[in-house]
Amino acid sequence: MSYNLLKGKKGIIFGALDEKSIAWKTAIRCYEEGASLVLTNAPVALRMGEINKLAASVQAPVIGADVTNMDDLKKLLEESIKHFGSKIDFILHSVGMSLNVRKGKEYTGLDYHFNQKTLDISAMSLHRVLQTAWDLDALNEWGSVVALTYIAAQRVFPDYSEMADAKALLESVARSFGYHYGMRKKVRINTVSQSPTRTTAGSGVKGFDGFMAYADKMSPLGNASGEDCAAYCAVLFSDMTRMVTMQNLFHDGGFSLTGVTEAIINQMEK
Ligand code: NAI
Repeated sequence: MSYNLLKGKKGIIFGALDEKSIAWKTAIRCYEEGASLVLTNAPVALRMGEINKLAASVQAPVIGADVTNMDDLKKLLEESIKHFGSKIDFILHSVGMSLNVRKGKEYTGLDYHFNQKTLDISAMSLHRVLQTAWDLDALNEWGSVVALTYIAAQRVFPDYSEMADAKALLESVARSFGYHYGMRKKVRINTVSQSPTRTTAGSGVKGFDGFMAYADKMSPLGNASGEDCAAYCAVLFSDMTRMVTMQNLFHDGGFSLTGVTEAIINQMEK
């Protein structure tokens, strides 16, 4: 069901790789809520071609941009403004990648060259996007920016490895830039800390299935799905949440504040 929450709003969605992507589901939800969109992803991801299906269904152009490349980001924002014929109301940052995890390197044996790339792609990219928008004055007053994060920024999940540090940095950038953009243009910036979700990035974490089942049993409401996350992001882009900024918002069925559940105790007693 649609509530027309984003009627007339214009947004950029980063990170729709395939139909499992949280960004993919968010694009669909925002479109259903009345938004006009631009889709973007890294040139290498665009070559897969999947995104064109999404583009057709949400009537959005696709503009390639590597989030670590300032020229790409400038071009993306300039072309988006040209496409919309106005400034931008919202941005979803749904981007993450760990080179060390991908190359099978443990947290205690990091390659620092990979680590720098991980932090750049997964965390400082939010700063790059925001600084580019700031310089171009690309966002409308009361605009909204959301980046996706994970609770490993606060608590240890060993196999999440260097991505935990990346998420802690990402959340800090959201807070720090949230201050400046709030002061300057009433733009709000938040992170959404999502339950484990079966996507390409998610499944890259070692032992993901067990981990997901554990989180589900440890959450009073169960794991939040990608579709639920998309709906939450749409609300955060809407005028219903104008005074929410600089927050890390847990969207996890209650996992973050649960010490233990009966299901886990029963399993331990077996
Ligand atoms: P996904 O694999 O579908 O999305 C990750 C996206 O990052 C891909 O579209 C990929 O092409 C893009 N990307 C990677 N390097 C890039 C670059 N240099 N430039 C531009 N884009 C680049 O996976 P998912 O799960 O939808 O991930 C989206 C966000 O959600 C990530 O920040 C992830 O850490 C976060 N998240 C995911 C959870 C999960 O369990 N799947 C849980 C909590 C947060």
